[in-house]
Amino acid sequence: MTVTDAYNDIAIRTAARLHEFRTGNNDMGVRRERALVDLVSDTDRTALGVATEYEIMGDQPVTAGLAAAAADHGIEFEHLGMTLGTVLHGVDLTRPASDDLVTFLRHTLLERKVIFFRDQHLDPGQQVAFARSFGELDAFPFGRPGADPYIVEIRHGAGSPGTENGWHSDVTWMENPSLGSIAQCVVCPPTGGDTLFADSHAAFHGLPTDLAEIAEHLDVTHDYRVFLAGRGFRAMPDEMIEQIKAEIPFGVVHPLIRTHPETGKPAIYLNGGFVRAESLTDRRTGEPLGPEVSRAMMARLLRQHDRPEYQCRFRWTEGSIAFWDNRAVQHYAASDYYPHKRVLRRVTLRGDRPYFRPS
Ligand code: SIN
Repeated sequence: MTVTDAYNDIAIRTAARLHEFRTGNNDMGVRRERALVDLVSDTDRTALGVATEYEIMGDQPVTAGLAAAAADHGIEFEHLGMTLGTVLHGVDLTRPASDDLVTFLRHTLLERKVIFFRDQHLDPGQQVAFARSFGELDAFPFGRPGADPYIVEIRHGAGSPGTENGWHSDVTWMENPSLGSIAQCVVCPPTGGDTLFADSHAAFHGLPTDLAEIAEHLDVTHDYRVFLAGRGFRAMPDEMIEQIKAEIPFGVVHPLIRTHPETGKPAIYLNGGFVRAESLTDRRTGEPLGPEVSRAMMARLLRQHDRPEYQCRFRWTEGSIAFWDNRAVQHYAASDYYPHKRVLRRVTLRGDRPYFRPS
């Protein structure tokens, strides 16, 4: 008998012995009946996070009512993730959307958190008009002025690698940050440049127990200093910075966990580019956690969306549109296409002030 045969012989006998032991103790049966919360470890509760969110969704990707409405509209759903992300086939956004279609898309966004459309090729006016059917828009003060003041062009290529490669929800430095963003790809790199979306409700339910115990009691300050810092350009004169700060609130406090104002679900609400990592404060006492504890906790919180289990990934093609709910997901644009060009046009819908209400 070779060494390998001897090892395999032992491995097979061990597996048989263990199986007999487990079934003899009825351990597997007991495990199946135990709640998932007791089966996951304190530090890796990812499976629990996804399963909890899915259970809240009724253990189905969409409700029966929404599936029936899709059929009525002749729309087919292609779900990308268990709890988030759906491509809608059979929609033509170049035509003005009827009230009925807008209501349907709103419901689909609320249930699936981020929705996608392919081959739309909207011009800037059409994209803005489509976005306006969902509410008021916010202009963006720190972008390159484009064809329309409500469009932000996210443009990268040679000399400008992508910078949106950190998990974030858009414009969290605003007092009333964006409800949702609608982006269309107008120039696509030959490969790469995908955008990943992660479910902030599932990420909340999957927090390690020590963070879960305190997270909903915390507030954190967000500001837009990154836009004032030059980023390769000439430093802005102090006078100009002071004028911007005087007109646009600089440093707003938001709850770390926000309640979605339409679904009532709790979500981690963060943007790594805008949070002041040292600013976590316990709302119950008004006491800051202190810079060291706050920074350490923030480093872990900012990585919570990293888990692939919470994510779906969208491969852009020109004319593709993504519409995401900034109150329910964070996103991350992979910066893996340099020196190729990638251009997205983004419009942001006005939102309301984040709050937390215990459920
Ligand atoms: C963003 O809104 O952060 C940009 C998303 C993207 O470039 O894919």
